Amino acid sequence: MRADPRIAPSILAADFANLASDIELISDDIDLLHVDVMDGHFVPNISLGPPVIASLAASTDLYLDCHLMISDPLAYLGPIKDAGANGVTVHIEAVPDPRPVAALAASLDLDFGLVINPPTPVSAIEPFLDLTSMVVVMTVHPGLGGQTFLDECLAKIEELRQIIDSRALSTDIQIDGGIDLRTVKLARRAGGDVFVAGTSLFRADDPVAAVAAMRKILNQE
Ligand code: DX5
Ligand code: ZN
Repeated sequence: MRADPRIAPSILAADFANLASDIELISDDIDLLHVDVMDGHFVPNISLGPPVIASLAASTDLYLDCHLMISDPLAYLGPIKDAGANGVTVHIEAVPDPRPVAALAASLDLDFGLVINPPTPVSAIEPFLDLTSMVVVMTVHPGLGGQTFLDECLAKIEELRQIIDSRALSTDIQIDGGIDLRTVKLARRAGGDVFVAGTSLFRADDPVAAVAAMRKILNQE
């Protein structure tokens, strides 16, 4: 049976000077918090790192799902765990053999997941699915919020759903980038479980209403 859909707001679109209050506003209505870590190397931008994760962990009980857009996850898993992260997802483009990172995550008791960029095929992560509790299909190019959902990535969600179900794995499929009230429906139909949304929730006039509207659509699917 399919797991219930979950909403994971991306704090990248929140007001970094008022993170706690932006999160608190919607915290009762969301399932996890998506934290985009960028190193200025794997992607051009720099966003935040362990000190901000530590402040988040101190101010909310929400699950901290840390999306590592960084070249060297092996070097940072310890500090990210110490800061209070619950799970990490790392890019297969950064670590083509993710087994050492998965082993380190397991030893740190961190949930582990793998991410594929829009041009990267499912076959790149397929051999490592057993190591993951989550796989992430990027539906925008990583590094920036507010981009348009790439419809051509839907086929990869369908492909992953089919592989995960046929192997009876418990791996969740997360969809990241350009998720709004239209695209969340497409992503759910294709087989997604966890939906990351930054701009469409935190930049909405009424973020509470925006989360409720997204939940309603997901419940109808
Ligand atoms: C992009 C990030 C996304 C982004 C999503 O690099 O991984 O998590 O914040 O933001 P929106 O919803 O604005 O596309
Ligand atoms: Zn992300």
